[in-house]
Amino acid sequence: MTTSIKIIQPDDWHVHFREDEMLKVVTKYSSRVNRRCIAMPNTSNPITSSDQASAYKKLIESNSYNENFEALIPCYLTDSLNLNDFTFALQNNIFVGGKLYPNNATTNSQHGVNDIKKIYNIFEILEKENRVLLIHGELNRDDIDIFDREKYFIDEELFQIRNTFKDLKIVLEHVSSSYGVDFVNVNKNIGGTITPHHMLLTKDDVFKNEKINPHHYCMPVVKNEEDLLSLRKAACFDNDKFFLGTDSAPHLTKDKIQHESLKAGIFSSPCSLELYANIFEEEHALHNLEKFSSINGPQFYGLDINSQVLTLNKIETEVPEYTEEGNIKIKNFFAGKKINWKV
Ligand code: NCD
Ligand code: ZN
Repeated sequence: MTTSIKIIQPDDWHVHFREDEMLKVVTKYSSRVNRRCIAMPNTSNPITSSDQASAYKKLIESNSYNENFEALIPCYLTDSLNLNDFTFALQNNIFVGGKLYPNNATTNSQHGVNDIKKIYNIFEILEKENRVLLIHGELNRDDIDIFDREKYFIDEELFQIRNTFKDLKIVLEHVSSSYGVDFVNVNKNIGGTITPHHMLLTKDDVFKNEKINPHHYCMPVVKNEEDLLSLRKAACFDNDKFFLGTDSAPHLTKDKIQHESLKAGIFSSPCSLELYANIFEEEHALHNLEKFSSINGPQFYGLDINSQVLTLNKIETEVPEYTEEGNIKIKNFFAGKKINWKV
């Protein structure tokens, strides 16, 4: 029986650090295991300029657990960006790419883009500078079922973006459906991140008996068994196109349970790598974990693969109910459940 595995140190290609006291608490967890993280720019005041990005990067890195930890910041794309500043920041590694939030698709996406055609000039810049377009791939419209938002985004927007900017590197983030997996698999220059929770939950874990479980509520919402299986297959087997992105997205527990302002987002960073290891073990694919966690991502982004190694030991641990420090109290994903692996 395998009792420990060594993998190249991972990176998290999609995670939320927020700001202020919350940032100080959650940054420690992600920087404990990862060498690099893409810190999402949907902070309460979105990151849209090079100055903001430099300051945010510094703030995160100064609160990190390890000295060599690096935060990579994508620009929150809007239709009123300063394009000179944006291009300058891409050329000087201040922005790792641009993040497209369709308007009102998720937390703090109210500044996001209404008419995606209006920012095709930004995609052109990204393509020219060989930088990545990160996409929250959901279309939120009254006539679209919440479970079909990813599919509609692919059909009505992504298909055309892909065919207009053939050399643009695109990441479909937190892929949540088998439809999304298929799209990533058959198209060129597109990769996808997969979260642990989309490989562990189905919609019954969120919406059952007319009561929503707020701690399992996230965007994109988790879907059917068929989708879960297809995501597991994509992460664990036969391809280079999918990589680790936890989408760990903390909200204060009090904001989660106040039912009128239910916030979307699942907080998994205290145990996300261990959860991935559990899932890969269940799929008899532990030998492929390193590809997913530490190789496919940097290869897609055109960055170096990390040189350090990390060990996961087979030790059973129970996930604590909450992450609590000062005024911060966040419900942990997988709280009260057992995980087989420990970094
Ligand atoms: C994220 C958040 O809270 O910022 N929420 C979520 O449900 N995943 C935003 C996002 O990545 O969609
Ligand atoms: Zn996210």
